[in-house]
Amino acid sequence: MKIIMLGAPGAGKGTQAKQIASKYNIPHISTGDIFRANIKNGTELGKKAKEYMDQGALVPDELTCDLVMDRIQEADCKNGFVLDGFPRTIPQAEALTNALSKIGEKMEYAIDVDVPDENIVNRMGGRRACVNCGATYHLVSIPPKKEGICDTCGSELILRDDDKPETVQKRLTVYHEQTQPLIDYYKGQGILHTVDGTVPMEEVFANIVSLLG
Ligand code: AP5
Repeated sequence: MKIIMLGAPGAGKGTQAKQIASKYNIPHISTGDIFRANIKNGTELGKKAKEYMDQGALVPDELTCDLVMDRIQEADCKNGFVLDGFPRTIPQAEALTNALSKIGEKMEYAIDVDVPDENIVNRMGGRRACVNCGATYHLVSIPPKKEGICDTCGSELILRDDDKPETVQKRLTVYHEQTQPLIDYYKGQGILHTVDGTVPMEEVFANIVSLLG
């Protein structure tokens, strides 16, 4: 099962992708998580990516595409994968289509988690992320058991640098300009499905499961 999660920043792509990965036993591949791990480890890629991420801009395609193409060819991807945060531009989508067609494969589902902009800024301000394992919480909808501490690994929870309101606005603008056109791209490929991302997360997941079958 090869799945792409589409949607604005904070729409809930990561929340849903983790559950899909667990239910269907396929890897969850998040380019945002890969970049954040590289930033944490101080790699060259991390240093370059941070310059863009902190401004709410996209990391250039040339730093992003090869990374994903290599990752989806690893052994654990042979039964499929769920892509979260990639593709984010038409050139990234074309690179993915071309790489898969060379091995006689194609993406099967593009799921757009639809949330209006006005809901997004509130959500991002309430999000807290674990500095160690990347688990995400929300101060109101999924608070950790102990304030500021990750339930899973006991590490500190932080507000991501790019979740500050001014950066969220910039990310939304970038999303509308560069990523939203992918909705038409995947509609054209006949694999687009839209789910309402404003309902409770269990309901969003149930709707996704019913379309994946
Ligand atoms: P990335 O990490 O991919 O960020 P994003 O797409 O902006 O998405 P988010 O992780 O912010 O949100 P999400 O949709 O996963 O929502 P979540 O489930 O956490 O990318 C970060 C940056 O990296 C980019 O800005 C860019 O610079 C760079 N980058 C990454 N990929 C790239 C690429 N391919 N090309 C170029 N650059 C790239 O949910 C959000 C909050 O809402 C959480 O607190 C959650 O608990 C809560 N929530 C979720 N669902 C619900 C619900 N149904 N009801 C109420 N609350 C909910």
